[in-house]
This record gives sequence, structure tokens and C-alpha cells, in this order.
Amino acid sequence: MFAIVWSGPSRAQETGKRRSAAELMDVLMWNREPVGGPFILTDQTGRQRTDTGFRGKLVLVYFGFTFCPDICPTDLQEIARAIDKLGPAGEQIQPIFITLDPERDTAEHLAGYVPLFHPRLIGLTGSAQAVRQAADAYKVFYEKVETGKGEYTVDHTAYVYLMDRSGRYLGFFPPNTSAERMLTIIRPHLDMP
Ligand code: NI
Repeated sequence: MFAIVWSGPSRAQETGKRRSAAELMDVLMWNREPVGGPFILTDQTGRQRTDTGFRGKLVLVYFGFTFCPDICPTDLQEIARAIDKLGPAGEQIQPIFITLDPERDTAEHLAGYVPLFHPRLIGLTGSAQAVRQAADAYKVFYEKVETGKGEYTVDHTAYVYLMDRSGRYLGFFPPNTSAERMLTIIRPHLDMP
């Protein structure tokens, strides 16, 4: 049920006092610390968004970056598929993509990316510090890894977080969770007619 997976090169270098991927995994796995919290970021239209703006919806939060070749697109597709499978009840869910690569993932860049997955997917970016703060709150490990010639990729944990209507953390799905599997967990939280 749980998987230790992050996309990009697997050999991340530990930096300074940052917590390691393994440590953050441990925190999440055993619910050792609260997950989630306040953030102030900018969406793909340039509008400022905070966590409190999503109250009243079930929120699926995903951290990644648009240049991610593999895991991010797959997981975002499954999130979108889960929402669409619900039909009108899917409106109760707000999907959010928070970039871990704000340097390249500007609001403008996100505007060309998020609609590829779902018309209601919100892409969020911000300053390096604002993104780091949001990622820390969700116990997300990420790290820039140089790939040569001035290029880089971003090593990152890839979980889908489910938050309730009051912003409280309900749990996470590991990478590569299917839409069907997500729905078995999400359905009991939906108001069904
Ligand atoms: Ni990724």
C-alpha cells in the first residue's frame, strides 16, 4: 500500500539541515506530525491563493513540477480521471498542483500546463521560500539536481494528499495510485444525492 518512490534521479544529495526523504517518509507513514497548513501562493492566472480559500471542498493536493517526465503527469491524469468518474459529485473536489520548481514554473507556464489534465486543476507557484514553506507543511521532500550544461531536474516525493472541507488532513495516496483506488477512499467523504 505504501511505496517509497520519488521521480527523477534516485540519488539525491542531502543538503544542509534539510530533512531527508526517508525522514519525511517516516513522518508521513506513521502520522508523527500534522500535515498541511497555511500557504500563500499564486495561481496560473496570477491570482493570489491561500489554503483558506478552498474551505468547503475536498482538496486533492499534489506537489511536482511541469518538466517532470514521468510520475507527475501520470498522477495528475489519475486525479483528473477520479474526479471525472464522479460526474457532478466531482465538483465537490478541488484538485491543486503545487510546483516544486517555481523558477521555471511561473504562473504563465502553469497556465499552459494544468488545463492539459483537468479544466478545474489549479496550478500554484510562488517564491522559492513560499514553495518551500508549503512543501515543508506537507512533508514533501524535493531537491534540485544538476544534470549538466546548466540544466536540472527536481527530485521529489510524489504523494496525493486528501484534505477535508475544513482543510484538515485525511491521508495520502502513494505515487501511481489509480483513480479507482483513490475513489474507494474519497467516496465516503462525498455528499451524495
Ligand atoms: Ni514528478
